Formats: sequence, structure tokens, C-alpha cells
Amino acid sequence: MFAMFKRASLVLMSSLASLLFALALPVHAQQDESQVAQREMTQLAGADFWRQVRQGEEGYTTSQFPEHGMLISTPGQTWYILKEKWMSPAGAVAIFVSIALVTLVYVFAGPVMLSAPRTGKRIKRWSRADRALHWSMAFTFLTLAFSGLMLVYGKHFLKPYIPADLWGFIVMLAKQYHNYMGPIFCVLLLCVLVKWWRKSTFKKVDIEWFIKLGGMVGKHKGTHPSAEFSNAGEKALFWLLIVVGSIVAFSGLVLDFPIFGQTRRDMELSNLVHGLAALILICGFVFHIYIGLFGMEGALEGMVTGEVDETWAKEHHDLWYGEVIAEEKAEDSNVGNHMVKGVSANEQTS
Ligand code: HEM
Repeated sequence: MFAMFKRASLVLMSSLASLLFALALPVHAQQDESQVAQREMTQLAGADFWRQVRQGEEGYTTSQFPEHGMLISTPGQTWYILKEKWMSPAGAVAIFVSIALVTLVYVFAGPVMLSAPRTGKRIKRWSRADRALHWSMAFTFLTLAFSGLMLVYGKHFLKPYIPADLWGFIVMLAKQYHNYMGPIFCVLLLCVLVKWWRKSTFKKVDIEWFIKLGGMVGKHKGTHPSAEFSNAGEKALFWLLIVVGSIVAFSGLVLDFPIFGQTRRDMELSNLVHGLAALILICGFVFHIYIGLFGMEGALEGMVTGEVDETWAKEHHDLWYGEVIAEEKAEDSNVGNHMVKGVSANEQTS
């Protein structure tokens, strides 16, 4: 009985031992594998390895991406320095200088007021479609400018003073808004070009307007140089918007849709071009907004109501005013002719 019990326990022990051995094998193998991985990682983390990677040494991968061989993007450092150390500070200075300049003009030269009293006669200047386009563009441009400036400068002037969660929410909102609004700006830019290019072509008369700085400042202040529907300043602003705005739009689309095989170099270049062009536009429009809001009596009411006073038209856009009066006279004489014909026809029948 005892012998039988001994044999049974021997069988049980040996089965248990073989089971333990079988279980221990993979653990041992796993330990070996992790030691190998650890050794490889130590070698990979070695300075020599990363020096080779930095110098552009390529490994092997099945990835099809154009830059798959590049683990560290060294030229990205150049982009970072150009953006953070040069463009951002220079842009901030340019915006402050533009605001300071219009403030100086307002304080020292003052707004351009009408020289003669208003006649009360209203002249149609901007149609409903013109005004809708202008204010849609203004809203889109200004909100894109604010969200863009937040993305570039927010980390300096806002982030240090608010809770991290709130900052995260604001910057995420700015980014999403900017991404979705950008394509709308492109469409509006095209509409502005189609609608207003004809009256924005430069003529000889614009040279004198430029020489006299529009009669707004300096020794020619208050002289009202000749101008068509758009004066030379407005024409320059229009082409600034079209040319620089197209650069902003194109580079923005490259950044917005990185699905056409753009490399990191393409994205970095687009980012720099986009930022620089946008900063130029923002500075240009500081002057436009100043003139529209504070710098010229009677300009804003035209873009709000669609009509301007006869005196404003005569003083700021004399050639256009001449055309409007000539058209009115032609219409009056047409009406007069019809009436005369109508009267003589009546006389004949009676
Ligand atoms: C608060 C902001 C703005 C104000 C108060 C303003 C005001 C005005 C006014 C009063 C005019 C009409 C000038 C005239 O009758 O001769 C005008 C024209 C115009 N504005 Fe603005 N504007 C603003 C923002 C913008 C923005 C952001 C853009 C584009 C990015 C823009 C683009 C234009 C263009 C293209 C014209 C037509 C110029 C021409 O005659 O060719 N405006 N604006």
C-alpha cells in the first residue's frame, strides 16, 4: 500500500516538474528576447547611431512616403528659427508700427473732413451685392487674422496668464476656425476679383493722386486730387488684396490639405510664406480700416447704406461724379424726348 502510494506520488511529482519546466521555457526565452531588445536599444540610443541618422544615413522600411528615410528633420530647425526668431517678432513690430502710424496721422493730421456743406442729395455708390461681398470679406479676413495671430502670438501674451485647460481650448478653437474659414476666404477673394477688377485698373490720373498722397496729409492736405469711382489708394489696396491674398490663399490650401504628397520642406516653406504674406496684408488693412472708420468723413456711410452725399462724391471722386451727372442728364433728356413725342402724338390724334 505504502509502495503504491510512493509510486503514485513519484509520477505526480515528475509530471508537475515537467509542467513547470514547460512553463518556464517561454519565460526564459522571453527574458532572452528582452535582453536582446535592451541591448539593441542601448546601441540605438548611442551617440554614434544618432549622429549617422542626423547626417542622413538611411535605414530600410516598407513605407512608401517620400521622406521615409529621414528620422530627424534637421532643416526643420532652420524653419523653426526663421519663424520663431525672425518672422514672428518682425511681424509683431510691423503691426504695432502700422497702428502707431495711423494713430499719429489721426492725432497730427486729423481726419479728412468735407470742405463744403452737404447738399442732401444722395448718390447711389454700392449695390446690395457689393456691400454683402465687402462685409463678408471683412468679417472673414478679420476673424482669420485674429485666429491666425492667436496661433502665432497667443503663447506669449495669453497662455502664461490663463489656466492650461482654457488655453488648450482657445488655441484648438482658433486652429479649427482658421482651417475651415480659410477656403471661404479663397472663394470670397475670387468674387472680389471678378466683381471689382474693372474699376481698379490704374489710369494716368492716378499718378497725381499718389503724388499728392490723396490730399490726405502733408502740404496737399484738403486739395482733393481727381479720382474715378476708385481712387489710386483704393486701387492699390485692391491689387494688394488680390496678389498677396492669392499667395496667402494658395499657401493656406497647401497647409490645409496635406494629401498631395507634400514633404515637410513644402509644409515649412508654405508656413513661412503664408505667415509673411498674411502679416503684410494685415498691416495694409490697418490703414484701410483706419480710413473707413475714422480717417474720412462720409466714407463709411457709403459702404453701410449704399449711398453717399453729393458733396462727398464731388470732392473725393470728381470724375465718377461727373459720369453720374452726365448719365442723369442723358436719362432726363430721354424722358423729355419721350414726353415731347407723346404730346405731339396726342396732338396729331386730336
Ligand atoms: C472694419 C473694417 C472695414 C471697414 C470699416 C471698411 C470700410 C470700407 C469702406 C468705407 C469702403 C468704401 C470706400 C469708398 O466708398 O470709396 C471700403 C471698400 C473696400 N474694402 Fe473695406 N473696410 C473694412 C475691412 C475690409 C477688409 C478686411 C477688406 C479685405 C480684406 C476690405 C476690402 C475692401 C475693398 C476691396 C474695397 C473696395 C475698394 C475699391 O473701391 O476698389 N475692407 N471699405
